[in-house]
Amino acid sequence: MLDYTKYGTTQKLMAKMAGNLNNSTISRWVYKLNLEPLGKTEDRVIKNIRYSIEDVRSLLQQVAFAEVSSPHKVLSFYNFKGGTGKTSICYQVSSHLALMGFQVLVIDADPQAHLSTSYGFDSHHERPTLYDVINGTIGVSDAIVPVYPGLDCIPSNLALTRLEVTLNDLPKREERLKIVLEPLRPKYDFIIFDTNPTISLLNRNILVFSDLVNIVCETQPYSLNGLKLLMEDMVRFYKNMQLDMPQVLVIPNKYEDRSSSSAEAMTALRQYYPSYMISDFAIRRSEDINTSAKSSLPLAFFARTNSIAFEDIIDLIHAVLSKLGTKVVNKEDV
Ligand SMILES: Nc1ncnc2c1ncn2[C@@H]1O[C@H](COP(=O)(O)OP(=O)(O)O)[C@@H](O)[C@H]1O
Ligand SMILES: [Mg+2]
Repeated sequence: MLDYTKYGTTQKLMAKMAGNLNNSTISRWVYKLNLEPLGKTEDRVIKNIRYSIEDVRSLLQQVAFAEVSSPHKVLSFYNFKGGTGKTSICYQVSSHLALMGFQVLVIDADPQAHLSTSYGFDSHHERPTLYDVINGTIGVSDAIVPVYPGLDCIPSNLALTRLEVTLNDLPKREERLKIVLEPLRPKYDFIIFDTNPTISLLNRNILVFSDLVNIVCETQPYSLNGLKLLMEDMVRFYKNMQLDMPQVLVIPNKYEDRSSSSAEAMTALRQYYPSYMISDFAIRRSEDINTSAKSSLPLAFFARTNSIAFEDIIDLIHAVLSKLGTKVVNKEDV
């Protein structure tokens, strides 16, 4: 795994994470909190002065989220189609919520383990996974790996595929995950799942445990049919389980400004799922998203101030917070 103590973010990106605060407000807070930039003075390039993860967390916590009481919410990124961007968006949302000062546990629930490799876990690692936790062979705390301050992870590997058989034989087979993980809820502001692209029992378990299901879909007309099936399946599932639907967000991804099919898809999404959409919001296609996962560096650690990927992810996080009733109060005055 990467040593994240060398990494941090700039004042300008902090200003964006705080909900588009003035850069000067952040710089006054940096002064007030007496924060020292990373690296040796002689190595610092003036435009690229960065602050450590702990400092960023502490500053943002005080500037933007001081009035926020812990949400203790379970989020999932879901779609039974692969390649829509679930893992990419889950990775960024989890990483940046932790940078904003929240306590986050992110759980890889896909045996393909792309989320785990984005955090720098070897795909053949032999650490425990959700399989061992639900199987009861280890306690959940033994499966949790700290990634950086505010961010813990339960990684996955191919062994997770065996969970389907285990779950199938258990009573309350759609509720095992909730039963085992519910005791963790008070410890974290957010427990976040990346799901596998199938209709699996594990995904059913995640649906039962989620307070907010984020459905990531591509902005292509053909993705709408799949989305319709997915929604119908979800409605039926919760009805059969005699559970209320959780909150749902549809997150259109890979939007392209000059593409007529992107625009068409957005129009259709707004028409069919108005209550699940964040008005005109979509995550735009951007190379930064690829680069980020490949280098195991969440956007805030390398993105330029004008990165559209960073802007979109931060906007999404603020929309999620507001959907969950978490009000962000900025402290302009020091
Ligand atoms: N907004 C985006 N811009 C550019 N590439 C993206 C974007 N979102 C996802 N991708 C790319 O699409 C591919 C599939 O994304 P991934 O997150 O693995 O999807 P899923 O988890 O739904 O299978 C990856 O190569 C990823 O880098
Ligand atoms: Mg994935």
